[in-house]
This record gives sequence, structure tokens and C-alpha cells, in this order.
Amino acid sequence: MKIITIIGARPQIIKAAALSRAIKENFSTQIEELIVHTGQHYDQNMSEVFFGELSIPKPSINLNIGSGSHGKQTALMIEQIEEVLIKEQPNAIVVYGDTNSTLAASIAASKIHIPIVHIEAGLRSFNKNMPEEINRILCDHSSTLLFSPTKTGLNNLVNEGFNKLTKAPYTADNPGIFLCGDIMYDNSLHFSNLSDKKSTLLSDLKLKSNDFILATVHRNDNTDNATNLNNIFSSFLQIATEFKEKIVLPLHPRTKKMLPSMLDVDLYKAITKNKNITIIDPVSFLDMIALEKHAKLIITDSGGVQKEAFFFKKPCIILRPETEWTELVECRVATIVGADKEKTINAYLDFVNNKENLVYPNIFGDGKAAQFICEQLVENS
Ligand code: UD1
Ligand code: UDP
Repeated sequence: MKIITIIGARPQIIKAAALSRAIKENFSTQIEELIVHTGQHYDQNMSEVFFGELSIPKPSINLNIGSGSHGKQTALMIEQIEEVLIKEQPNAIVVYGDTNSTLAASIAASKIHIPIVHIEAGLRSFNKNMPEEINRILCDHSSTLLFSPTKTGLNNLVNEGFNKLTKAPYTADNPGIFLCGDIMYDNSLHFSNLSDKKSTLLSDLKLKSNDFILATVHRNDNTDNATNLNNIFSSFLQIATEFKEKIVLPLHPRTKKMLPSMLDVDLYKAITKNKNITIIDPVSFLDMIALEKHAKLIITDSGGVQKEAFFFKKPCIILRPETEWTELVECRVATIVGADKEKTINAYLDFVNNKENLVYPNIFGDGKAAQFICEQLVENS
């Protein structure tokens, strides 16, 4: 069968590595994969860097859409993806997660009746102000095969009318839903040793294991809201000054662009001058794993980083009002604080004082989600 994998944003590029690896290792005679990059992310350290280090086949086509308003960006993608799909006539498209690239690909494919395979299906924040929530719902409801990483995700689909008991042949009107584990767990297991061997970031930054906090911030709710962004960075400053913690922040370009204009002048100066706060450009995935494995605590509004904190058994403070990964909070290894400074400081104190009592059960599968997905693709092609 011929599939077209459509990716565009950093986390999707990384996720695609797991499926491409499974195809190369075990399904190369059955599945032909073509990769189309929408160009939603385009900086070297947001896109290109991952292809080489994670052995992802180079995209056959890069649509170079770039940044823009949601409507314009999505519309340009739909137009060009449609042309590619009409020309290539794949048996199915594969999409990941919940970005505008996911939505555009789903709309383009569904209109010309090409089956959609959605990996990371069923996740919900139940917050429709998030652009990602709309993207996920629309993608799920136009998909033919839906692969959910968690039981919660599968239950969300059932609650929205999907039937666990449907039988093949699957179609958009008779979709198949599967619980398959998390392909990012596959990737974290696979690339962990390579990161140990190749990443020099810790020594480059003169960091000692378990002696720093890793933080990432990029959600539009945080970057584009001055109160939220000031609260978040003010809590970082307090943790760095009062508690003498080192904080490493590989900063998304969106946040980097917003900081100077959104932070109060004094806070911006204090953050950029503070010796305990290290702001760096986005790092490669192998470097990111190194930071995650050796951090004492992770503070983030990223979906992927929340889970990787769990994979590497690190407590996580979630800078969002809710999470799709509710299991992390139920296991009490992650705490939701939104953009609230006091809650962030309290969560920090709780975790540093209770680190012995944290338990990380196996809730993300067996590290073979991509293998399972390929089996289903072949069986249902
Ligand atoms: C997108 C996804 C989000 C995901 C994130 C992963 C949507 C709606 N959002 O958010 O779900 O968590 O990717 O990182 O699809 N920029 C650059 N260089 C780049 C890419 C972006 O400078 O290579 C800057 C541009 O100023 C751009 C801004 O970042 O306007 C936002 O980029 P965009 O892709 O629209 O959204 P993200 O915030 O990255
Ligand atoms: N990541 C990375 N380098 C960085 C920051 C993040 O490789 O500097 C990886 C991270 O390990 C995870 C993914 O990017 O696998 C998460 O992407 P992001 O936070 O941009 O988006 P989200 O997961 O929130 O959609």
C-alpha cells in the first residue's frame, strides 16, 4: 500500500520517526511511505535538525507554507495538499496530533475520499478556545483508522459516538478505533541510548545531573497573554533567586519573539541577567532527551514534554489550565498550575520535598505502538 505521511510542526516530525523506522525494519515490502512536509515549522532547529539525527526519510515534497494566521495558513495547506493527493493517489494519509497541518491534511483528504489514519486520536482538553482542540475533533471525525495512545483517549472517542466493536472493512462512516500505546514512548526508548552517546549539551552548558530544572513555554495562551507570560517568568525568577535553582529554557521561536515586548521591562532585564536562568535556542531531540533525563524537575506547557517527563520519571509542573494527558495528574507525578505563580511555587516545593514518593506506572504501552499501527495498516489496506 502507498501512504502519504503529512507533517509540519516539530512534534510531528519527531513522531514520524517511529512509524518510518517500523516500516523500514519490518514492512518495507508492504508499505511505501511518502513524506510531505507542509513547512509549518521551517527554522533549522525546528525542522531540519530532526531528519538527520532521527533517520527520518527526507520529505519528498516541502510545501513551504510557513507562518500565518490560522485561516490563511490552513487554507494554503489545504490547497497544496489536495494537489499532491490527486497526483499521488495514496491508499491513505497518515497524520499526527492536532496542529493546523493535521487539520489541513484531513480536510484535503476527506473531500476527495482518501482514508485518513490519525495517530494520537481521542485526546481532548475540553477547551475549544485551544486551536488544537478543534483540529483534533475535526480530524478524528473524518478519520477511518484512529489510533489512541491512552485508555482516556479511547474512551473520549466512545463518548463522542465511535464504536469500539465495529469490524473491518473500515471507512470514514465505519471507523476503526484502536488503543495502541504512545509512539513517542517508542521513540523515547529508542533514542535514549543514542542521546547518552551523542549529546554533549550537559557538559557544554556545564550542567550536573539532577541539578537543574528544564522548562519550555510555547502555548499561544501563554505567549500572547501578557499577564500569563509575566506570571510564568516571574515564577521562574523566584525559583532561580529564592531557591537558587538553575533553570534551562530551550525557547520556542514564538516565545523568543514575544518576550521583549510582553514581559514587564524590569522582569525582562532580571530574567536575561540572572545567572541561574539559561535561555537557549530550541535543541535537537537527542539534546532534549539529555536535558529531560538529567533534570530534577520539568516545567512545561508542551504536550510532548509532559509525557517525556513521565517516560524519564521526572515530576512535571504543567503551565496550562488543563491537560489531555490526565493520567499524569491522576498518578500525582504532574500538577496543573495554569499560569499561576503561587501554584507554580507550591508545586515546585511539593515535588522537591516529596521526590521519593513518586511512582510512574506503565500506562503508555510497550514501546511497540508503531509496529501495531503498521500491522493494522497492512491488514486494513
Ligand atoms: C504549533 C501548533 C501547536 C504545537 C506547536 C509545536 C497549531 C495551531 N499549533 O504551534 O499545537 O504545540 O506547533 O511546537 O498548529 N516560528 C518561527 N519559526 C518556525 C516556526 C514558527 O519563527 O520554524 C514562529 C513564527 O513567528 C510563527 C510562530 O512561531 O508565527 C507560531 O508558529 P505556528 O506554527 O503558527 O504555531 P506554534 O506556536 O509553533
Ligand atoms: N523538543 C525538542 N527540542 C526542544 C523542545 C522540544 O526536540 O527544544 C521536542 C520534545 O522533546 C518533544 C517535542 O519536541 O518530543 C514537543 O514539541 P512541542 O513542545 O513543540 O509541541 P507539543 O508537544 O506541545 O505539541
